[in-house]
Amino acid sequence: MNTTPTTKALTIDHLAAMKRDGQKIAMLTCYDATFAHAQDQAGVDVVLVGDSLGMVVQGRQTTVGVTVEEVAYHVACVASGLARAFLLADLPFGSYYEEAAAMESAVSLMQAGAAMVKLEGAGPMIGIVEYLTSRGVPVCGHLGLTPQSVHQLGGFKVQARDDVAATRLVQEAQALQDAGAQLLVVECVPAALGQALATELRIPVIGIGAGVDCDGQVLVMHDMLGLGARAPKFVANFMSGVDSVQAAFAAYVQAVREKRFPAAQHTY
Ligand code: KIV
Repeated sequence: MNTTPTTKALTIDHLAAMKRDGQKIAMLTCYDATFAHAQDQAGVDVVLVGDSLGMVVQGRQTTVGVTVEEVAYHVACVASGLARAFLLADLPFGSYYEEAAAMESAVSLMQAGAAMVKLEGAGPMIGIVEYLTSRGVPVCGHLGLTPQSVHQLGGFKVQARDDVAATRLVQEAQALQDAGAQLLVVECVPAALGQALATELRIPVIGIGAGVDCDGQVLVMHDMLGLGARAPKFVANFMSGVDSVQAAFAAYVQAVREKRFPAAQHTY
């Protein structure tokens, strides 16, 4: 399969082929049509309407206050700016813990234009993933630092630092894959664990603070544009040395493709 950029919309099959071909997947968060168009033109493969919108758009301290209606609104905005990129959307906190609620929330996001929904965690979420995927809703898992659990985790910090926790995380990832998840985001874990996940799993593994050996990378758009007040270690500012936002997106895509990002200084 040809995985070079085209104006044809990318599908989950293209993303799976990119993993098989060893071509890195470039993903960014996005919340409106103008930035979506710029990301699409720059060759971003996956655009995520993340519940990080609670922090970077709404100015909240965490993602916990974001609602399905708010994510759906931003999905519709982003969808109208895209021609090629695959559109992924976050199921927000509290919207997917029971089967019926999960389906209702996922339907809202898919009807707004998402091609896949993302949810955080494993354990009881495995059954939810099975429920959704067996009814035609494509699902992406999210493990490691799961921001919706920030109050339980005691802050935004690196996860699965020891062997026991790393082994458990790989098992959780395999359970998500077995339940039908077709994509996985892993956040803020040691690079060796990111590499192990990408090797062990059939589905593409997209890292954020998880090392260069993941099948792809994701960053929050505001962070990579240098707009965050206090950027985490895993962020690089792609506005430095370029004169437009679209050039920053293109520089990010190229750095991900060429495995120049993340570098050692962005890695745990
Ligand atoms: O909400 C979000 O932006 C995310 C990314 C951090 C992966 O989930």
